[in-house]
Amino acid sequence: MKDKNELKSSEKFLEVKDLLLKRGDRVILDHVNVSLRKGETLVLMGLSGAGKSTLIRCIIGLLPATSGEIFINGAEIAHLKGRELDELRKHIGMVFQSPALFDSLTIMDNVAFGLRENTKTKESEIRKRVLEALDIVGLHGTENQYPSELSGGMQKRASIARAIVTNPELILYDEPTSGLDPIMSSVINDLVNDLKKKFNMTSIVVTHDLKSAKAIADKIILLHKGKFLLTGTFEEFDNSNDPVIRQFIDGDSKGPVKM
Ligand SMILES: Nc1ncnc2c1ncn2[C@@H]1O[C@H](COP(=O)(O)OP(=O)(O)O)[C@@H](O)[C@H]1O
Ligand SMILES: [Mg+2]
Repeated sequence: MKDKNELKSSEKFLEVKDLLLKRGDRVILDHVNVSLRKGETLVLMGLSGAGKSTLIRCIIGLLPATSGEIFINGAEIAHLKGRELDELRKHIGMVFQSPALFDSLTIMDNVAFGLRENTKTKESEIRKRVLEALDIVGLHGTENQYPSELSGGMQKRASIARAIVTNPELILYDEPTSGLDPIMSSVINDLVNDLKKKFNMTSIVVTHDLKSAKAIADKIILLHKGKFLLTGTFEEFDNSNDPVIRQFIDGDSKGPVKM
């Protein structure tokens, strides 16, 4: 990885080139292309089964592509092995749909987990960084509590604290607001925007929520059956005349997409 400071904001931070992913004969991702600059927020939308989570798993290096290339900060991830891939992953934070916290660990120990497991950071430094991360997500004072003592929205924020505590340059969120009430969804949206403002964080957010998309997206991709139907701004998306996109936006049961 290049040093963070070496990267100019005009440079591409993430580039997915002609990515093809097949499972047997089935095409899951059909020659897709993404390019994202440092500090941009990409929103990935699409119906269930469109391939959103699969694309995220490819980007984080969990799933090898059938063909195509993925560059993060100039490094092609398929060519990275062992320690190099571990090193790259340290620069990527992941927020899963379910908070996936360990019930038997305090919030401190949950958020500290990755730092303790994967780095040689001193315990005093770890505690300091966990408290900072909890502050950033608005969970000041919860470090000695257990996940079951927190609301769903707070657990989600704890999982975001866990993702940011390693100082990642890229955060991937897979449906971070699903199951949350509208107010808590707005809190999460604000957090994504705050991280961008404060740390020039690059984010990819999978969501079905048009309000979230409008609030956070620099760029939207609509993934449909493994292909990109549209890449553009929220306005371009919202004003599209494409019948599939219209059906998606209007949430219509009638239209070109049959369930
Ligand atoms: N482990 C797997 N094995 C086989 N097919 C899978 C696997 N994971 C996902 N798929 C298929 O890939 C397609 C895309 O899935 P996914 O990326 O989870 O969609 P989304 O996140 O957009 O709902 C779906 O058709 C799904 O059935
Ligand atoms: Mg998914």
